[in-house]
Amino acid sequence: MAIHKSVLLKEVLEYLNPEPNHNFIDCTFGGGGHSREILKRIAPAGKLLAIDADAETRNQKPEIRDDKNFIFVNANFRDLENIVKENFPYPVNGILMDLGLSSDQLESSGRGFTFQKDEPLDMRFDTRKETKAADILNFGSLDYLKNIFENYGEIRPAEKLARKIIDLRKQKKFQTTFDLVAAVDEAGIKSRSPKINSATLAFQALRLAVNDELGALKNVLPAALNVLAPGGRLAVISFHALEDKIVKNVFRDWYKAGAVRLLTKKPVAPSWEEVKTNNRSRSAKLRVIEKI
Ligand SMILES: C[S@@+](CC[C@H](N)C(=O)[O-])C[C@H]1O[C@@H](n2cnc3c(N)ncnc32)[C@H](O)[C@@H]1O
Repeated sequence: MAIHKSVLLKEVLEYLNPEPNHNFIDCTFGGGGHSREILKRIAPAGKLLAIDADAETRNQKPEIRDDKNFIFVNANFRDLENIVKENFPYPVNGILMDLGLSSDQLESSGRGFTFQKDEPLDMRFDTRKETKAADILNFGSLDYLKNIFENYGEIRPAEKLARKIIDLRKQKKFQTTFDLVAAVDEAGIKSRSPKINSATLAFQALRLAVNDELGALKNVLPAALNVLAPGGRLAVISFHALEDKIVKNVFRDWYKAGAVRLLTKKPVAPSWEEVKTNNRSRSAKLRVIEKI
């Protein structure tokens, strides 16, 4: 059973406004919290296509798994147009993307997303993919590692961490999360904020690289606009400044081209009550458009 608490749930439902017999796509099923609420609102005949790259998410909400209106596809949302062509012959009234990873993946997947437990350094959402986090650390060039930590983690100086990783891997290959924690410590990387552990930034950067998360986001946005029916809405929740920048710029370009209405002029952030009960929501930003 999922432990993940859906972020900005009330706001997503307000903006996407699912109504009876609407058809929806949840590109990031995760713990299934958003999907479950959307499914209730689109009953009795609305269909929900739920996508996740992580096959383990399929069973997170047993109560909706057998719903005749629920379709689950284990795939990367970057292939949205093909996924829809093959599985979803309905006009699409709304699409949700709640980016990043779920609390279930972080806390109980055993795939090395957390620096707080010693686990194999994997970090793949989709375990059919070849490259694990350890492969990047063990075989990435100095420049490649430096770029990951600089661009995705805003770690300064990223080169120091990249060099430390290369030194350490000559003695022993990286295998577990604690190997990376030790590298961050030994490189003397300090976080910009006392509230953020410096390992958090390194782990997040590596996870973004393993899953090519920014690349997938760039691919899926135009696909989402294509599959939406006129009047359909797209909501994106991001947790990383680079993700939000991509979404903001793409939405602005669509708006200038007269293709969409911007339903959120500024990104919507969680209320302090939500942040108090779900710390993971603190960096969330929601942007929503409506296709014209
Ligand atoms: C934040 S969680 C979603 C939580 C969900 N909205 C809920 O309420 O429980 C993000 C999910 O998206 C999935 N994911 C991330 N990037 C993906 C991609 N490119 N394609 C498919 N799934 C992806 C992750 O595996 C994870 O399960």
